[in-house]
Amino acid sequence: MNARPETLHRRLEWPSPEAATCEIRCGRGELSAIADRLAAAGLVAEGRLLLVCDPGAEAAIAEVERSLGEAGLGWRRIDVPAGESNKVQASVDRIVAEAIEWGIGRDTPLVAVGGGCVGDLAAFAASVLLRGVPLVLVPTTLMAMVDASIGGKTAINHRLADGSLGRNLVGSFHPARLVLGDPRSLATLPPREFRAGLAECVKHAMLDGEESLAFLEAHAGSLAALAGTPAEGDDGGLDRLLARSIAVKSRIVAEDPLERGSRRHLNLGHTYAHAIESLPQVPWRHGEAVSLGLVAAAAASVEAGWLDPAAPPRVAAMLDRLGLPTAWPGEAADGSRLRSLMRLDKKRSRGRLALVLLRGWGRPEVLADPPEAVVAAGWRAIGIRC
Ligand SMILES: NC(=O)c1ccc[n+]([C@@H]2O[C@H](COP(=O)([O-])OP(=O)(O)OC[C@H]3O[C@@H](n4cnc5c(N)ncnc54)[C@H](O)[C@@H]3O)[C@@H](O)[C@H]2O)c1
Repeated sequence: MNARPETLHRRLEWPSPEAATCEIRCGRGELSAIADRLAAAGLVAEGRLLLVCDPGAEAAIAEVERSLGEAGLGWRRIDVPAGESNKVQASVDRIVAEAIEWGIGRDTPLVAVGGGCVGDLAAFAASVLLRGVPLVLVPTTLMAMVDASIGGKTAINHRLADGSLGRNLVGSFHPARLVLGDPRSLATLPPREFRAGLAECVKHAMLDGEESLAFLEAHAGSLAALAGTPAEGDDGGLDRLLARSIAVKSRIVAEDPLERGSRRHLNLGHTYAHAIESLPQVPWRHGEAVSLGLVAAAAASVEAGWLDPAAPPRVAAMLDRLGLPTAWPGEAADGSRLRSLMRLDKKRSRGRLALVLLRGWGRPEVLADPPEAVVAAGWRAIGIRC
């Protein structure tokens, strides 16, 4: 009788996404230097690249194209207008089809110019094209500069059976090799979009500590005044705010790139914000919902006995000075609906609700299965009874 063949058993070690190096630069003049930056990062071997652009960021795109042209680089440009309904598989298919028809190679970088929508979409396309091509992000909104472009998360939305759009349900980790931001590109940003980005900066300051909060408080007036009218030469604290905020997000991501632990702290305020955003016909920008969520999280932290009662009014006063909402306007929303939407949040850990709360400025911690009273205190703080 033949002996049973031995079962093959091999273990392959794969390089982890944590090993990828991402260079982040943010400063005035970075966009006009993009060709040099690409060369320094070793991304011009082919002499050409794929540009995926949000046409809403036309001035920034023109600056990028000027730099590429002067350096003699070639490119193929694909425009995808911003908007959650464009951050979908059909847009990925279009990018992939054009890229392949153009003859993209494994070393051809995909450079995305625009806000977080086009950044997330282009990054996802870069992660699947030929099993991954080098990604360069040129964020042109405040939200994308301090948040979406840092951390390697790519995403598209998925149309659910009931016709609604499931946000960020499909995606991958594909860190950009290079992120280039230029505060000058924010000059054309609609004021509301600028303010929405400031909400994430407040979140980063709360996660960082007293000094960061004091910086924001000292500059809240001048930063709010920048919305729609950023002045050349007098940055009102914007450049330093960008540097601080990018440093906080980068530090937290570097500690836990794949979101297995401490990176979850970046969800401060977001469990409330996601529930608010899930309400149909609620016209909040993500940053505006985050603003409400931050006030709620601060109040919930007080109810948990973790934070000083003076903290929520301090957060609310700062957000208010930055022109962000801190209470539900007009007719109160359905509190019980918001509570159930909150329980659907995809960031629940092992099926349980988990809230990121603060034990002090710069001291976030996850509270799993928060008591009802803690959750309700957050909603109450923004004017919602449940
Ligand atoms: N990957 C991540 O880690 C991460 C983190 C946060 C947010 N996001 C995603 O980011 C998206 C939101 O990004 P956003 O807030 O940048 O919004 P956005 O990309 O929708 O841009 C907002 C608006 O600003 C316009 N715009 C962009 N740059 C401009 C400029 N320089 N001048 C004038 N107009 C300009 C756009 O055309 C759009 O109308 C969401 O889809 C969210 O899911 C991703």
